[in-house]
Amino acid sequence: MIEEVHLWRGTPEQQALRSQFVKATQFAYFDKQLGHPNWRGKRVLDFGGNKGNLLLDPACTIRHQDYYCLDVIGEAIEEGHQTFPDANFIHYDRYNCSFNPEGVRELPVPDLGVEFDFILAYSVFTHTTFEEMKELVAQLRQHGRTVAFTFIDPQWNGNLRWRLEKHNPQDRVETLLSREMQWCSLVNGTELYVNSSGVFDFQDCMTYNVYYTEDFMRAQFPNATIEKPVNGEMQHCCELT
Ligand SMILES: C[S@@+](CC[C@H](N)C(=O)[O-])C[C@H]1O[C@@H](n2cnc3c(N)ncnc32)[C@H](O)[C@@H]1O
Repeated sequence: MIEEVHLWRGTPEQQALRSQFVKATQFAYFDKQLGHPNWRGKRVLDFGGNKGNLLLDPACTIRHQDYYCLDVIGEAIEEGHQTFPDANFIHYDRYNCSFNPEGVRELPVPDLGVEFDFILAYSVFTHTTFEEMKELVAQLRQHGRTVAFTFIDPQWNGNLRWRLEKHNPQDRVETLLSREMQWCSLVNGTELYVNSSGVFDFQDCMTYNVYYTEDFMRAQFPNATIEKPVNGEMQHCCELT
């Protein structure tokens, strides 16, 4: 199973697939979740925006000069800059066990000198520890009016089951799913940590996936609006204004 991280840190064969595996539904997703705001002239930070996939949607009305992308993968930032020269791509060299194991631990979110109208993060806190999500969301709130980010509920549409079944025999899947959980993290598709961020310093951590139930997120962010997935996607949305 090819995941985003393999396209950047995987084998040469996996990296060669990068141009074929492009998801361009992120703009439509946030546009719907946020009630179709007028994006024109609004300054948008795409946190963990990779190579600017949000801009690929032809319906995207965010002006390139108003778009800022921060990501921990230097190569993705470079590709984004090549593709969208009028947009702003900034490398955020923060440690992430999966996407940037050579990065700097606990590096604060840089101040770009911009007050953002929208800060969006699609499938980013699905790959950081719980502690990091809390810390980074608090930092992001200093930089923008609306912060909207996705999360994956393990129970919604069998989200967690789907991933476990890709990597584990059926009897193990049933055993893993039998545990009560509010949230969990999954390392390399096989090591499941229930209500824990697990071993994030794990040397061979290629994939790191985190799941939160809707109830757990409501308790963590009591002032947030939590929206169910839209457009047939698997991710919920947490909106803070
Ligand atoms: C699954 S990809 C999603 C990329 C992009 N949002 C999209 O939808 O195309 C997760 C992204 O989050 C980035 N990322 C992980 N940890 C991060 C962090 N602490 N700060 C910023 N970006 C991070 C990764 O480098 C990767 O590009």
